[in-house]
Amino acid sequence: MTWKRICGSDDVAANTVRKFDVEGIPVLLVNYGAGYRAIPPVCPHMEEPLEESGVVVRCILTCTKHLWAWKLDTLEMQGETEKPLKAYELKHEDGLILVNIEEELVYEFETEDDDDDFFK
Ligand code: FES
Repeated sequence: MTWKRICGSDDVAANTVRKFDVEGIPVLLVNYGAGYRAIPPVCPHMEEPLEESGVVVRCILTCTKHLWAWKLDTLEMQGETEKPLKAYELKHEDGLILVNIEEELVYEFETEDDDDDFFK
């Protein structure tokens, strides 16, 4: 287990997101008011940067690009969302937020080659 400091407990305001570089790994910290989530910084749908397209309202993170959404306390998918969010384990200690990063969490996206296969 490798706990790494991401920021201080007060560094990200409620209902906002902020991207951090944690020893070379990009991590988006989401403060949903009642807690935090540390997730990869891109939407699992089409790789939109969630620091720009992500909105947090009443514990739900919504990517405004195509409205995929996740409940942040349970990571439950909402509505038409088709892929789960990946999340790093996180804890508070001495006014700091720490994330457990063994390796970077990444999503698999379809490539153009996958689309080409459809027509073969
Ligand atoms: S890119 Fe985020 S919902 Fe489509």
